[in-house]
Amino acid sequence: MISDLDQHLAEAATAIATAGDLDAMRTVNSELLGKQSVVTEARKTLGGLDEDERKAVGQRLNEVRAEIEALVAARRSALEGEARAEQLEEERLDLTELDRGRRLGHRHVVTQTWERLEDLFVGMGYTVSEGPEIEDEWHNFGALNFPPDHPARDMYDTLYVDHGEPGSTLLRTHTSPVQIRVMEAGEPPIYSIMPGRVFRSDTADATHMPVFHQIEGLVVDRGITFGDLAGTLEAFTRAYFGGDFTSRLRPSYFPFTEPSAEFDIRRPDGTWLELAGCGMVHPNVLAACDLDPEEWSGFAFGFGLDRLALMRHGIDDLRELFRNDHRFLSQF
Ligand code: DAH
Repeated sequence: MISDLDQHLAEAATAIATAGDLDAMRTVNSELLGKQSVVTEARKTLGGLDEDERKAVGQRLNEVRAEIEALVAARRSALEGEARAEQLEEERLDLTELDRGRRLGHRHVVTQTWERLEDLFVGMGYTVSEGPEIEDEWHNFGALNFPPDHPARDMYDTLYVDHGEPGSTLLRTHTSPVQIRVMEAGEPPIYSIMPGRVFRSDTADATHMPVFHQIEGLVVDRGITFGDLAGTLEAFTRAYFGGDFTSRLRPSYFPFTEPSAEFDIRRPDGTWLELAGCGMVHPNVLAACDLDPEEWSGFAFGFGLDRLALMRHGIDDLRELFRNDHRFLSQF
Protein backbone atom coordinates (compact mmCIF):
# COMPACT_ATOMS: atom_id res chain seq x y z
CA MET A 1 0.00 0.00 0.00
CA ILE A 2 2.76 2.41 0.97
CA SER A 3 4.77 1.56 -2.10
CA ASP A 4 1.64 2.15 -4.20
CA LEU A 5 1.47 5.63 -2.73
CA ASP A 6 5.15 6.28 -3.41
CA GLN A 7 4.65 5.13 -6.98
CA HIS A 8 1.65 7.47 -7.26
CA LEU A 9 3.64 10.40 -5.95
CA ALA A 10 6.33 9.84 -8.58
CA GLU A 11 3.72 9.76 -11.34
CA ALA A 12 2.00 12.82 -9.95
CA ALA A 13 5.27 14.74 -9.95
CA THR A 14 5.75 13.97 -13.65
CA ALA A 15 2.17 14.95 -14.52
CA ILE A 16 2.57 18.26 -12.70
CA ALA A 17 5.93 19.04 -14.24
CA THR A 18 4.64 18.43 -17.76
CA ALA A 19 1.38 20.42 -17.47
CA GLY A 20 1.93 23.04 -20.18
CA ASP A 21 -0.43 25.81 -19.14
CA LEU A 22 -2.90 26.92 -16.47
CA ASP A 23 -5.81 25.04 -18.10
CA ALA A 24 -3.85 21.78 -18.13
CA MET A 25 -2.86 22.51 -14.55
CA ARG A 26 -6.49 22.72 -13.48
CA THR A 27 -7.19 19.29 -15.00
CA VAL A 28 -4.12 17.72 -13.40
CA ASN A 29 -5.08 19.24 -10.06
CA SER A 30 -8.53 17.67 -10.03
CA GLU A 31 -7.16 14.33 -11.21
CA LEU A 32 -4.57 14.23 -8.45
CA LEU A 33 -6.49 15.75 -5.55
CA GLY A 34 -10.18 15.66 -6.53
CA LYS A 35 -13.02 13.35 -5.43
CA GLN A 36 -11.96 10.48 -7.68
CA SER A 37 -8.22 10.81 -7.17
CA VAL A 38 -5.97 8.02 -5.88
CA VAL A 39 -5.37 9.82 -2.59
CA THR A 40 -9.10 10.30 -1.94
CA GLU A 41 -9.86 6.69 -2.84
CA ALA A 42 -6.98 5.44 -0.67
CA ARG A 43 -8.37 7.31 2.31
CA LYS A 44 -11.64 5.42 1.99
CA THR A 45 -9.81 2.07 2.35
CA LEU A 46 -8.15 3.07 5.64
CA GLY A 47 -11.12 1.86 7.69
CA GLY A 48 -10.53 -1.73 6.57
CA LEU A 49 -6.91 -1.87 7.78
CA ASP A 50 -5.70 -2.99 11.20
CA GLU A 51 -4.61 -0.30 13.59
CA ASP A 52 -0.82 -0.27 13.02
CA GLU A 53 -1.16 -0.39 9.30
CA ARG A 54 -3.86 2.28 9.34
CA LYS A 55 -1.51 4.59 11.22
CA ALA A 56 1.44 4.04 8.88
CA VAL A 57 -0.58 4.28 5.68
CA GLY A 58 -2.59 7.24 6.98
CA GLN A 59 0.55 9.14 7.81
CA ARG A 60 2.14 8.45 4.42
CA LEU A 61 -1.12 9.37 2.75
CA ASN A 62 -1.08 12.79 4.45
CA GLU A 63 2.53 13.33 3.45
CA VAL A 64 1.90 12.35 -0.17
CA ARG A 65 -1.14 14.63 -0.35
CA ALA A 66 0.82 17.55 1.11
CA GLU A 67 3.67 16.99 -1.34
CA ILE A 68 1.32 16.87 -4.29
CA GLU A 69 -0.33 20.07 -3.11
CA ALA A 70 3.03 21.78 -2.79
CA LEU A 71 4.12 20.65 -6.27
CA VAL A 72 0.82 21.86 -7.73
CA ALA A 73 1.14 25.26 -6.04
CA ALA A 74 4.73 25.74 -7.21
CA ARG A 75 3.95 24.74 -10.80
CA ARG A 76 0.86 26.92 -10.85
CA SER A 77 2.72 30.00 -9.70
CA ALA A 78 5.46 29.34 -12.27
CA LEU A 79 2.82 29.10 -15.00
CA GLU A 80 1.11 32.26 -13.79
CA GLY A 81 4.44 34.07 -13.90
CA GLU A 82 4.97 32.91 -17.48
CA ALA A 83 1.48 34.01 -18.48
CA ARG A 84 2.03 37.43 -16.95
CA ALA A 85 5.39 37.84 -18.64
CA GLU A 86 3.83 36.86 -21.96
CA GLN A 87 1.07 39.42 -21.53
CA LEU A 88 3.53 42.16 -20.57
CA GLU A 89 5.60 41.33 -23.61
CA GLU A 90 2.52 41.55 -25.83
CA GLU A 91 1.58 44.97 -24.44
CA ARG A 92 5.08 46.31 -24.33
CA LEU A 93 5.60 49.81 -25.67
CA ASP A 94 9.10 50.43 -26.82
CA LEU A 95 9.66 54.06 -25.94
CA THR A 96 13.38 54.04 -26.53
CA GLU A 97 13.53 53.08 -30.15
CA LEU A 98 10.86 55.11 -31.87
CA ASP A 99 11.64 55.66 -35.48
CA ARG A 100 12.59 59.29 -35.13
CA GLY A 101 12.24 59.92 -38.85
CA ARG A 102 8.51 59.34 -38.91
CA ARG A 103 7.08 59.14 -35.41
CA LEU A 104 7.74 62.45 -33.70
CA GLY A 105 5.68 63.18 -30.62
CA HIS A 106 2.80 65.59 -30.89
CA ARG A 107 0.67 67.80 -28.69
CA HIS A 108 -1.95 66.29 -26.42
CA VAL A 109 -5.47 66.51 -27.79
CA VAL A 110 -6.45 68.93 -24.98
CA THR A 111 -3.46 71.16 -25.80
CA GLN A 112 -4.43 71.11 -29.47
CA THR A 113 -7.94 72.27 -28.57
CA TRP A 114 -6.55 74.92 -26.23
CA GLU A 115 -4.24 76.30 -28.92
CA ARG A 116 -6.93 76.29 -31.60
CA LEU A 117 -9.21 78.31 -29.33
CA GLU A 118 -6.41 80.74 -28.57
CA ASP A 119 -5.66 81.16 -32.28
CA LEU A 120 -9.29 81.78 -33.02
CA PHE A 121 -9.85 84.41 -30.35
CA VAL A 122 -6.49 86.08 -30.96
CA GLY A 123 -7.68 86.33 -34.56
CA MET A 124 -10.73 88.21 -33.24
CA GLY A 125 -8.49 90.67 -31.37
CA TYR A 126 -8.39 89.08 -27.91
CA THR A 127 -5.34 88.75 -25.66
CA VAL A 128 -4.57 85.59 -23.65
CA SER A 129 -4.28 85.88 -19.84
CA GLU A 130 -3.49 83.41 -17.11
CA GLY A 131 -3.97 83.26 -13.36
CA PRO A 132 -2.91 81.03 -10.46
CA GLU A 133 -4.37 77.55 -9.92
CA ILE A 134 -4.24 78.05 -6.16
CA GLU A 135 -6.59 80.93 -5.47
CA ASP A 136 -7.95 82.88 -2.56
CA GLU A 137 -11.59 82.87 -1.61
CA TRP A 138 -12.00 86.49 -2.73
CA HIS A 139 -10.99 85.94 -6.35
CA ASN A 140 -12.74 82.57 -6.74
CA PHE A 141 -16.00 83.61 -5.02
CA GLY A 142 -16.22 86.95 -3.19
CA ALA A 143 -15.32 89.34 -6.01
CA LEU A 144 -17.52 87.28 -8.34
CA ASN A 145 -20.55 88.31 -6.30
CA PHE A 146 -21.01 85.06 -4.36
CA PRO A 147 -22.17 86.35 -0.96
CA PRO A 148 -20.59 84.53 2.03
CA ASP A 149 -22.43 81.26 2.74
CA HIS A 150 -24.62 81.75 -0.34
CA PRO A 151 -25.94 78.41 -1.71
CA ALA A 152 -24.52 79.28 -5.16
CA ARG A 153 -21.14 78.31 -3.73
CA ASP A 154 -22.44 74.76 -3.51
CA MET A 155 -22.51 74.61 -7.32
CA TYR A 156 -18.83 73.94 -6.92
CA ASP A 157 -17.36 71.05 -4.94
CA THR A 158 -14.46 73.10 -3.76
CA LEU A 159 -11.10 71.63 -2.78
CA TYR A 160 -9.64 73.76 -0.02
CA VAL A 161 -5.93 74.10 0.65
CA ASP A 162 -4.64 73.93 4.20
CA HIS A 163 -3.11 77.42 4.24
CA GLY A 164 -3.99 80.57 6.17
CA GLU A 165 -7.47 80.94 7.66
CA PRO A 166 -9.66 77.84 7.14
CA GLY A 167 -11.58 78.29 3.86
CA SER A 168 -9.38 81.15 2.67
CA THR A 169 -7.26 79.25 0.13
CA LEU A 170 -8.49 76.82 -2.48
CA LEU A 171 -7.83 75.19 -5.83
CA ARG A 172 -9.75 77.38 -8.26
CA THR A 173 -13.06 75.77 -9.19
CA HIS A 174 -13.34 77.71 -12.45
CA THR A 175 -11.35 80.15 -14.58
CA SER A 176 -13.65 83.06 -13.66
CA PRO A 177 -11.27 84.37 -10.94
CA VAL A 178 -8.87 85.25 -13.74
CA GLN A 179 -11.49 87.78 -14.92
CA ILE A 180 -11.04 89.56 -11.61
CA ARG A 181 -7.26 89.50 -11.90
CA VAL A 182 -7.42 90.91 -15.43
CA MET A 183 -9.74 93.75 -14.35
CA GLU A 184 -7.54 94.50 -11.35
CA ALA A 185 -4.42 94.57 -13.50
CA GLY A 186 -5.42 97.14 -16.11
CA GLU A 187 -7.94 99.60 -17.44
CA PRO A 188 -10.56 98.65 -20.04
CA PRO A 189 -11.01 98.15 -22.89
CA ILE A 190 -10.47 94.46 -22.12
CA TYR A 191 -10.83 91.72 -24.72
CA SER A 192 -9.22 88.66 -23.24
CA ILE A 193 -9.48 84.88 -22.96
CA MET A 194 -8.19 82.90 -20.00
CA PRO A 195 -7.57 79.19 -20.52
CA GLY A 196 -6.52 76.97 -17.64
CA ARG A 197 -6.82 74.03 -15.35
CA VAL A 198 -9.57 73.91 -12.73
CA PHE A 199 -10.34 71.56 -9.84
CA ARG A 200 -13.40 70.13 -8.12
CA SER A 201 -13.78 67.24 -5.72
CA ASP A 202 -15.69 65.12 -8.25
CA THR A 203 -15.36 61.38 -8.62
CA ALA A 204 -13.94 60.48 -12.01
CA ASP A 205 -16.46 59.05 -14.47
CA ALA A 206 -17.13 59.31 -18.20
CA THR A 207 -18.19 62.97 -17.91
CA HIS A 208 -16.44 64.20 -14.74
CA MET A 209 -12.87 64.58 -13.60
CA PRO A 210 -11.53 66.25 -10.48
CA VAL A 211 -9.15 68.15 -12.77
CA PHE A 212 -10.34 69.58 -16.04
CA HIS A 213 -9.92 72.63 -18.27
CA GLN A 214 -11.93 75.74 -18.99
CA ILE A 215 -11.50 78.74 -21.17
CA GLU A 216 -12.90 82.00 -19.90
CA GLY A 217 -13.68 85.04 -22.02
CA LEU A 218 -14.05 88.62 -20.82
CA VAL A 219 -14.92 91.78 -22.68
CA VAL A 220 -15.24 95.12 -20.87
CA ASP A 221 -15.65 98.31 -22.85
CA ARG A 222 -18.03 101.22 -23.28
CA GLY A 223 -21.48 100.35 -24.58
CA ILE A 224 -21.12 96.56 -24.66
CA THR A 225 -24.52 94.85 -24.97
CA PHE A 226 -26.05 91.39 -24.82
CA GLY A 227 -26.19 91.55 -28.62
CA ASP A 228 -22.38 91.75 -28.68
CA LEU A 229 -22.22 88.59 -26.56
CA ALA A 230 -24.64 86.67 -28.78
CA GLY A 231 -22.90 87.85 -31.95
CA THR A 232 -19.45 86.94 -30.62
CA LEU A 233 -20.53 83.44 -29.63
CA GLU A 234 -22.27 82.89 -32.94
CA ALA A 235 -19.15 84.02 -34.81
CA PHE A 236 -17.09 81.71 -32.64
CA THR A 237 -19.42 78.77 -33.37
CA ARG A 238 -19.10 79.15 -37.12
CA ALA A 239 -15.36 79.71 -37.02
CA TYR A 240 -14.63 76.78 -34.71
CA PHE A 241 -17.16 74.17 -35.85
CA GLY A 242 -18.00 75.28 -39.38
CA GLY A 243 -20.78 77.08 -41.23
CA ASP A 244 -23.30 74.25 -40.73
CA PHE A 245 -23.41 74.89 -36.95
CA THR A 246 -25.44 77.58 -35.19
CA SER A 247 -25.91 78.56 -31.56
CA ARG A 248 -28.55 79.69 -29.07
CA LEU A 249 -28.64 81.25 -25.61
CA ARG A 250 -30.95 79.97 -22.85
CA PRO A 251 -31.69 81.87 -19.62
CA SER A 252 -29.64 80.65 -16.66
CA TYR A 253 -28.14 81.85 -13.42
CA PHE A 254 -24.62 82.73 -12.33
CA PRO A 255 -23.91 85.17 -9.50
CA PHE A 256 -21.31 87.05 -11.53
CA THR A 257 -23.46 87.76 -14.60
CA GLU A 258 -26.84 89.45 -15.03
CA PRO A 259 -28.57 88.40 -17.15
CA SER A 260 -26.96 84.95 -17.39
CA ALA A 261 -27.33 82.34 -20.10
CA GLU A 262 -26.29 78.89 -21.21
CA PHE A 263 -24.72 78.71 -24.64
CA ASP A 264 -25.71 75.72 -26.80
CA ILE A 265 -24.60 74.81 -30.28
CA ARG A 266 -26.82 73.14 -32.84
CA ARG A 267 -25.10 70.37 -34.75
CA PRO A 268 -25.86 69.58 -38.40
CA ASP A 269 -27.95 66.58 -37.28
CA GLY A 270 -30.25 68.99 -35.40
CA THR A 271 -29.18 68.02 -31.86
CA TRP A 272 -28.15 70.65 -29.30
CA LEU A 273 -25.11 70.52 -27.06
CA GLU A 274 -24.49 72.74 -24.04
CA LEU A 275 -21.00 74.22 -24.21
CA ALA A 276 -20.70 77.21 -21.93
CA GLY A 277 -22.14 79.58 -19.39
CA CYS A 278 -22.15 83.28 -20.18
CA GLY A 279 -23.79 86.62 -19.48
CA MET A 280 -23.35 90.33 -18.91
CA VAL A 281 -20.78 91.10 -16.22
CA HIS A 282 -22.68 91.90 -13.01
CA PRO A 283 -22.30 95.56 -11.83
CA ASN A 284 -21.14 94.27 -8.43
CA VAL A 285 -18.27 92.45 -10.15
CA LEU A 286 -17.19 95.58 -12.00
CA ALA A 287 -17.43 97.54 -8.74
CA ALA A 288 -15.36 94.93 -6.88
CA CYS A 289 -12.62 95.65 -9.41
CA ASP A 290 -12.95 99.44 -9.01
CA LEU A 291 -14.64 99.87 -12.37
CA ASP A 292 -17.61 102.22 -12.58
CA PRO A 293 -20.65 100.25 -13.87
CA GLU A 294 -22.07 103.53 -15.19
CA GLU A 295 -19.09 103.92 -17.46
CA TRP A 296 -18.18 100.34 -18.36
CA SER A 297 -20.15 97.24 -19.31
CA GLY A 298 -19.10 93.85 -20.50
CA PHE A 299 -19.82 90.21 -21.12
CA ALA A 300 -18.14 87.00 -20.04
CA PHE A 301 -18.27 83.33 -20.95
CA GLY A 302 -16.75 80.11 -19.70
CA PHE A 303 -16.32 76.99 -21.85
CA GLY A 304 -15.50 73.44 -20.82
CA LEU A 305 -12.39 72.89 -22.90
CA ASP A 306 -12.22 69.10 -22.52
CA ARG A 307 -15.78 68.78 -23.72
CA LEU A 308 -14.85 70.63 -26.90
CA ALA A 309 -11.98 68.20 -27.45
CA LEU A 310 -14.23 65.19 -26.83
CA MET A 311 -16.94 66.30 -29.19
CA ARG A 312 -14.57 67.33 -31.93
CA HIS A 313 -13.07 63.84 -32.02
CA GLY A 314 -16.12 61.78 -31.05
CA ILE A 315 -14.48 60.54 -27.83
CA ASP A 316 -17.06 59.26 -25.35
CA ASP A 317 -15.08 59.03 -22.12
CA LEU A 318 -13.46 62.06 -20.52
CA ARG A 319 -11.06 59.86 -18.54
CA GLU A 320 -9.25 58.89 -21.76
CA LEU A 321 -7.86 62.43 -21.93
CA PHE A 322 -6.01 61.92 -18.65
CA ARG A 323 -4.80 58.31 -18.87
CA ASN A 324 -1.79 59.12 -21.02
CA ASP A 325 -2.07 55.87 -22.93
CA HIS A 326 0.19 56.33 -25.92
CA ARG A 327 -1.99 54.03 -28.06
CA PHE A 328 -5.01 56.28 -27.47
CA LEU A 329 -3.25 59.64 -27.75
CA SER A 330 -1.35 58.82 -30.92
CA GLN A 331 -4.66 58.79 -32.81
CA PHE A 332 -5.07 62.55 -32.60
N1 DAH B 1 -17.57 79.79 -14.11
C1 DAH B 1 -18.75 79.08 -14.58
C2 DAH B 1 -18.62 77.60 -14.20
O1 DAH B 1 -17.56 77.13 -13.98
C3 DAH B 1 -18.87 79.20 -16.07
C4 DAH B 1 -19.22 80.58 -16.48
C5 DAH B 1 -20.52 80.99 -16.55
C6 DAH B 1 -18.24 81.49 -16.80
C7 DAH B 1 -20.90 82.23 -16.92
C8 DAH B 1 -18.58 82.80 -17.17
C9 DAH B 1 -19.92 83.15 -17.24
O2 DAH B 1 -17.68 83.71 -17.46
O3 DAH B 1 -20.24 84.39 -17.64
O4 DAH B 1 -19.61 76.94 -14.12
